[in-house]
Amino acid sequence: MLNRRMVLVVATATLSLGAAAQAPVSLKEAYRNDFLIGAAINAPQIRGQDNRGDAIIDAQFDTISPDNALKWERIHPQPGVYNFTLADKYVAFGEKRHMFIVGHCLVWNNQVPAWVFRDRKGNLVDRKTLLKRMHDHIFTVVGRYKGRIQSWDVVNEALNDDGTLRQTPWLKIIGPDYIEKAFEFAHQADPQAQLTYNDYSLELPAKRKGAVALVEKLKAEGIPITSVGMQSHDHLDWPSDAAVDATISAFAKTGVKVVISELDIDVLPHATQNQGADVSLKIAQNPKLNPYVNGLPPAMQKQLAERYAGLFQVFLKHRDVVTRVTLWGVTDADSWLNDWPVVGRTSYPLLFDHAGQPKPAFQAVIQAAAEGKQ
Ligand code: XIL
Repeated sequence: MLNRRMVLVVATATLSLGAAAQAPVSLKEAYRNDFLIGAAINAPQIRGQDNRGDAIIDAQFDTISPDNALKWERIHPQPGVYNFTLADKYVAFGEKRHMFIVGHCLVWNNQVPAWVFRDRKGNLVDRKTLLKRMHDHIFTVVGRYKGRIQSWDVVNEALNDDGTLRQTPWLKIIGPDYIEKAFEFAHQADPQAQLTYNDYSLELPAKRKGAVALVEKLKAEGIPITSVGMQSHDHLDWPSDAAVDATISAFAKTGVKVVISELDIDVLPHATQNQGADVSLKIAQNPKLNPYVNGLPPAMQKQLAERYAGLFQVFLKHRDVVTRVTLWGVTDADSWLNDWPVVGRTSYPLLFDHAGQPKPAFQAVIQAAAEGKQ
């Protein structure tokens, strides 16, 4: 029989002799001591109707986010009418697998029904009414999953690219303190839950500055914010690794944690000048914007793999601050980037391809973990 010491020696020898062959085969294993690693999951995956997708989720990830299942329009479509059928299944899915479960999202200007901001005559409601609606929504939803959803995206996308507050109905009707109120309500509804401010393009210097100022303001007021979510809907050429590095450092300085909340890397030609991720953007179809309908050429696979490796090296460098990295989808077939901002494109932004097979980018991310620990 092998004793404990001998087993250790054997394991170490195997590792150093055949690093490639013995490298961990799952993302969650590779990053176990660094941060959680997850994916946004969709309705078929939640319902158990996508065996291929669910097998990948089981094998690879230790945290999940809902791509749409907890958005206001889905769970609270009409005044006083809540529908938790899919949301309940989502939470049960994560609990069954002992995963870290993320709630996305409470207060946003998209995928929220128009009635939220209007009275019966169609006029905008007043501050008091909207605060009450926000309060009731947050207490009902966060309260229902108290102690079961570990982290909430409380406010999503409150900032413009220049760092000023986005003119949403929330801001217009309640005023700038709608953000504080949302965090306070979420904290009251579940004092143990981690609370995140989530946004895209935070690597833009002006937007980053605005976000840092917002976090500092919240902290100065004693608002319980745990982390900033950098959505990270990235491109091959933007943002630079250096910009990601600087952005994580800037948030770390304010004393919050950072989560990479919606990572994907778009390899398709830019459909606009803007690098943002505004879901309301719609661009007309054009074959030039959809060049890889028959598969991604090896040279592009390689570029994508290198880009992923570079980003994960930055995340690893900040493993003391980065608590979670979540990919926005399981396979390329699931990605929202097949339909945004141009409907009907064939997109390749994730680590598993359209057939559910690991891509060179997957190997590169696994390899980055091994190299980061040397
Ligand atoms: C996306 C979903 O993935 C799509 O299925 C839906 O049609 C639109 O929203 N930023 C966010 C996410 O915070 O909620 C968005 O998710 C992607 C951009």
